[in-house]
Amino acid sequence: MTHNIELYGNKEGFSSLLQGNAMKGIVFTEFSQMVEAAFGEDMLDDLIDATNPKSGGAYTSVGTYDHVELVDMVVELSAKVDIPVPKLIHTFGVHLGKVFTEKFESFFKEAGSTLELLKQIDKHIHVEVRKLYPDAELPHFSYQDALTDDDGFKLHYQSTRGFADLAEGLIASTSSYYGESFTVERKDWVEQDIHNTIFTLRSEGQ
Ligand code: HEM
Repeated sequence: MTHNIELYGNKEGFSSLLQGNAMKGIVFTEFSQMVEAAFGEDMLDDLIDATNPKSGGAYTSVGTYDHVELVDMVVELSAKVDIPVPKLIHTFGVHLGKVFTEKFESFFKEAGSTLELLKQIDKHIHVEVRKLYPDAELPHFSYQDALTDDDGFKLHYQSTRGFADLAEGLIASTSSYYGESFTVERKDWVEQDIHNTIFTLRSEGQ
């Protein structure tokens, strides 16, 4: 970790920060908490009963999870509350993003702006996550800075999981953390089982 301590000036280092907060299952535990807070404890039990997850639904923030179980639960929830799946996943992304800005604020402080933070996911933030949890299933991000104001900043998401709606929610909470606002355009396609999305961000008003 000395490398990162030198580079980013974080006294504890990000490994201890992530470890201390039991990263691995954060996606699932936060999803469960959001469902409970929004729809009640019974709803979470109903989703677990209806989807019968292999893991038994006993998710802990340190355990791993199968993302298919999460998707099954979102599909079930969508049918029960009559909210489309993409909207639920987006809302969850906004929620998870808020949790990240609180629990891992140093990443956001170091980056200083939405676009800088987004540039650092692939080469820094998710790298730290993977160091601790080599089997974490993380998406790949690349980006292209705007050449002219009209072009906008482009962020390219690639993943086997197809969680672009989650990414869009995370982008939204990242920009609200910095008090910045962007219009976000999306282009989605699937190629050889990889879900691709290019997000184009333009500062609002441009
Ligand atoms: C401090 C900030 C962040 C932390 C600590 C973090 C950490 C993580 C972790 C632990 C996972 C789950 C890995 C697994 O399930 O095995 C994950 C997944 C993911 N992250 Fe991040 N992340 C951060 C910021 C972001 C941002 C800003 C974006 C969006 C632009 C993003 C996009 C995603 C997506 C879409 C996934 C789901 C997996 C997939 O689509 O393949 N993350 N992240």
